Amino acid sequence: MKKKSLQEDIVDVCLRRGIIFPSAEIYNGPSGFYEFGPVGESIRQNIIQLWQEAFVNAENNVYEISGSTILPENVFEASGHLESFNDPLTQCEGCKSMFRADHIIEEQVGINVDGKSLAELFDIIKEKNIVCNTCKGVLTMPREFNMMFSTTIGPVSDKTGYLRPETAQNIFLNFRRISHSMRAKLPFGVAQIGKAYRNEISPRNFLIRLREFEQMEIEMFVDPDEINNHTYWDDIKDFEVRILTREAQQKNGKPKKMTLEQGITDKIIHNQYMAYYMFKESLFVQDLGISEDQFWFRHLLENQTAHYSKANYDLEIQFPFGIVECIGLAYRTDYDLIKHAEKSKTNMQINVPGKGNIVPHVIEPSFGLNRLVYAVLLNSYISEGREWTWFKFPKSIAPWEALITPLMKKDGMDETAENLYWDLKDQGIDAIYDNSGNIGKRYARNDEVGVPFCITVDYDTLKDETVTIRDRDTTEQIRVSMDEVGSIIRELILEIITWEEIKEETEVLNENTE
Ligand code: GAP
Repeated sequence: MKKKSLQEDIVDVCLRRGIIFPSAEIYNGPSGFYEFGPVGESIRQNIIQLWQEAFVNAENNVYEISGSTILPENVFEASGHLESFNDPLTQCEGCKSMFRADHIIEEQVGINVDGKSLAELFDIIKEKNIVCNTCKGVLTMPREFNMMFSTTIGPVSDKTGYLRPETAQNIFLNFRRISHSMRAKLPFGVAQIGKAYRNEISPRNFLIRLREFEQMEIEMFVDPDEINNHTYWDDIKDFEVRILTREAQQKNGKPKKMTLEQGITDKIIHNQYMAYYMFKESLFVQDLGISEDQFWFRHLLENQTAHYSKANYDLEIQFPFGIVECIGLAYRTDYDLIKHAEKSKTNMQINVPGKGNIVPHVIEPSFGLNRLVYAVLLNSYISEGREWTWFKFPKSIAPWEALITPLMKKDGMDETAENLYWDLKDQGIDAIYDNSGNIGKRYARNDEVGVPFCITVDYDTLKDETVTIRDRDTTEQIRVSMDEVGSIIRELILEIITWEEIKEETEVLNENTE
């Protein structure tokens, strides 16, 4: 039998264990739509919470909003999406299958054709003999395909609306309301977590190219004269990042490690605000368990940089099947605010004391939540060493903090375990209860979804009110008093103590008991 690839293994475990499912699966729904099941939703919420803590709560000038996902046509006329949010679509003359022209070229001959015109793409298709993936038929001249999903607003209306292709637009639309209501002074940021929709020609690679996905974005509004005067510059300037420079890309080179200060001095990093977000993004990605050597910032080439942006640095992660942009970072300047000001006849200026009214510039870090979830799944998956596969999720994003379970469903152990479960929930522990099957199977099931600790009520519990804690990563067990178990789990999750330290203080039971 053919061995499954890592990706196939992950998709399989996601389906079996309630992590992620295809949408409308029982009707064989369209590709590019996935849903989070109970385990996946818990992981998703935990990643969102980490993000909010780092990018909103830890700052004193970032406000979070939640906007509409359907917006009227004039928004996208102004933003430019209606005219230019297009992908090149080519069709097979024979079987009529549709392909994204740049992707099919890349797949069949491995060349990057970013920034090429439709006519140039067609020349390459003909020259390199690129044919239909399905029937080897001839491909048509590519045409522009707009990626926005459209709808009509109201029952008998000719008013067209679009599902937003990025969360950013609500923030620009609400700029005045937010700056006035929060009495905000530059610099300040507006954050939003929410759905975005793109009618991708060829959705693929599980969570990588979706038609409905989630973004976590910030628009940081800055006085352009202060773009190289970030408050925390002295604290972060020596932080090291790996950057795949434009020069290195042209020579097929590797990412180069440099301090943020060196990046600014050498004119590789455009400005201090972008450097600040490189620092924050790096820490965040490492909190998700992605190690330093697995990601870097790619400075997009001139022909890959959107017309409204002065510079872009994509945080790319090395996946087993290739390199994936997971976080965008763009210097959107005053482009969007000016476009909306012109179209809506709204004043998008803000007062800067001593200077007067200005339209601020925007730095935009844009996180793709689904791609990050996939990076976490791939990175945490372990298929060796045990009879079952398991996820070594960072403790803060595991779906639950602890499993509470009785050794057996008899002699009062199940009642005691259930009481302990409720007690731990009252203490704020994100616990789950399971008493089905035998204890070994329960441990395996919880490893499989990456729950870091299992607390077992056994016969000794009934005698001396102690329980065992099993550590997911080592499978070792210790015995602690029931009174203390909640605070110990809390300290282990918050990494106030390590498993090694707690082992020194307590009775270690047989290792690898299952
Ligand atoms: N507001 C800027 C913006 O939307 P983007 O680079 O198009 O920039 C930002 O998207 C992030 O959203 C990407 O880095 C990626 O993680 C995620 N993303 C974009 N398109 C996606 C898709 N079709 N499926 C899943 N994630 C996607």
